[in-house]
Amino acid sequence: MPDTAIPTIPTEPVTPALLAKLREVVGDKGLILDDAAKDPFVTDWRGSLKGHAAVVVRPGTTEEVAAVVRLCHEAGVAIVPQAGNTGLMGGATPYATHTGIVLSVQRMNRVLAVDPVGYSMTVEAGCVLQTLQETAAAHDRFFPLSLGAQGSCMIGGNLSTNAGGVQVLRYGNARNLVMGLEVVLPNGEIWNGLRALKKDNTGYDLKHLFMGAEGTLGIITKAVLKLWPAPKDVCTAWLAVRDPQAAVEILSEAHAASEDNVGSCELMSRAGTDMVLRHIPGTQDPLKAETDWFLLLEWSSSRPRADGAEGMSEKMEQFLADQMEAGRVLDATIAQNAAQARNMWTIRESVAPASRAEGPGLSYDMSVATSRIPEFVTKGIAAAKEILPSIRPYPLGHIGDGNLHFSFMAPVGMDRQTLHQYSPAITRAINDLIRDFSGSISAEHGIGSDKVGELEHYRSRIELDTMRSIKRALDPRNIMNPGKVLRV
Ligand code: FAD
Ligand code: LAC
Ligand code: ZN
Repeated sequence: MPDTAIPTIPTEPVTPALLAKLREVVGDKGLILDDAAKDPFVTDWRGSLKGHAAVVVRPGTTEEVAAVVRLCHEAGVAIVPQAGNTGLMGGATPYATHTGIVLSVQRMNRVLAVDPVGYSMTVEAGCVLQTLQETAAAHDRFFPLSLGAQGSCMIGGNLSTNAGGVQVLRYGNARNLVMGLEVVLPNGEIWNGLRALKKDNTGYDLKHLFMGAEGTLGIITKAVLKLWPAPKDVCTAWLAVRDPQAAVEILSEAHAASEDNVGSCELMSRAGTDMVLRHIPGTQDPLKAETDWFLLLEWSSSRPRADGAEGMSEKMEQFLADQMEAGRVLDATIAQNAAQARNMWTIRESVAPASRAEGPGLSYDMSVATSRIPEFVTKGIAAAKEILPSIRPYPLGHIGDGNLHFSFMAPVGMDRQTLHQYSPAITRAINDLIRDFSGSISAEHGIGSDKVGELEHYRSRIELDTMRSIKRALDPRNIMNPGKVLRV
């Protein structure tokens, strides 16, 4: 395709005539025009990106979404889809040059059906993730997607980012939890793929196009989600471990020792734990061990613990004793009640809010083969320190998925501007290392606006061309979250 055919980001304005038509579709309650009220919709979770939107449009139904998209399509007006606005790559934040709308699905928050026998539920895109977990629990079922932002992120955003979180090693990431989708396409047509089917080999599996697309191919309006049996016997433990090598070996042995019941395995550091204890009120250090590395290990079974029978905690106790003898575990504590387990989880899930409070930093959401995590940690820290020796490493993450949030805080006393002078060199060094490990520069947070250039740098021409062909086929006018993920 010649260069002249490549569409640029549309800059068509929302005219008074278009605004009047939008008002006819969604009513006054579905429009936000006031600058102060628009502010939370044009600012990202970290508070570091601030964009612009002519209007925030909040449809209440799929038909309203379709009508809004059709109007924007006809007028060539760009749309930034948004759900809970907790994404970390800037995908939901309009650019400062954006002249179009933010389309928020937050009013579409109904659970439409729960089928406990068939292990599924049908929901609208604006349902808050935690509400869906609670809905499943109320039916003695389990919806496994679980992440720190679950109190405010919404399923439409989770699916659009193909979110990961802390249960991926057992249940898979968001796209594995879906049987069907309903999507409004960039021309305003509604694709009804809302099927509760586990098997369906009728041509290309279209739903997977929209999951992980970060709103660039259409707007997810509904989903049929898979459910699992509710956990009945859960054991949560906090382990001081010798080093990351010990951590991956512990996980490797835990699968058999737990009889395939490992639910989560999260790597933490002393520095990361201390940062949470400093910033998040009410958290308590589970283990006052002066070691550098910790693991949060959780085993869960859907079989209730029978009186006198060996349950998850007895199995875990035996396992921890064996691992201590092997020298991998230095010390450990098992949560004795729900409050202690919650404290462990709050510490783990509060690293992102704590680092936001701590000050400027850099974070790389990366993955490599799980067994190579230890080598990556050593080489990655060395690479960053070669550029900025006093940078403070805070690696943590979902090691069972080979996924680290390879994070750094600025040296003590260094401001954001100075850190950002070092950031291009550190980013190149870390991302080159990820490439050398055949890893991924975005394991679970996506590309958004943040990593568009890095994706172009590291993905092959064939991959980029294929992605652009899909984008152009579905969104020839480039109105759907233009400039995010891909430049077309
Ligand atoms: P938004 O931020 O609103 O949107 C995200 C992207 O999806 C944007 O590109 C947006 O345009 C698009 N989008 C939103 N809704 C729709 C829709 N209906 N149709 C089409 N496109 C849409 N992520 C993980 O993977 N694992 C974690 O463990 C994790 N932990 C987190 C912890 C914290 C404290 C925070 C703040 C974030 C965390 N995240 C994590 C980031 C994660 O991507 C989001 O929390 C979540 O998945 C995004 O959902 P959201 O509803 O906030 O989406
Ligand atoms: C976490 C987010 C940042 O795992 O993905 O804490
Ligand atoms: Zn994560």
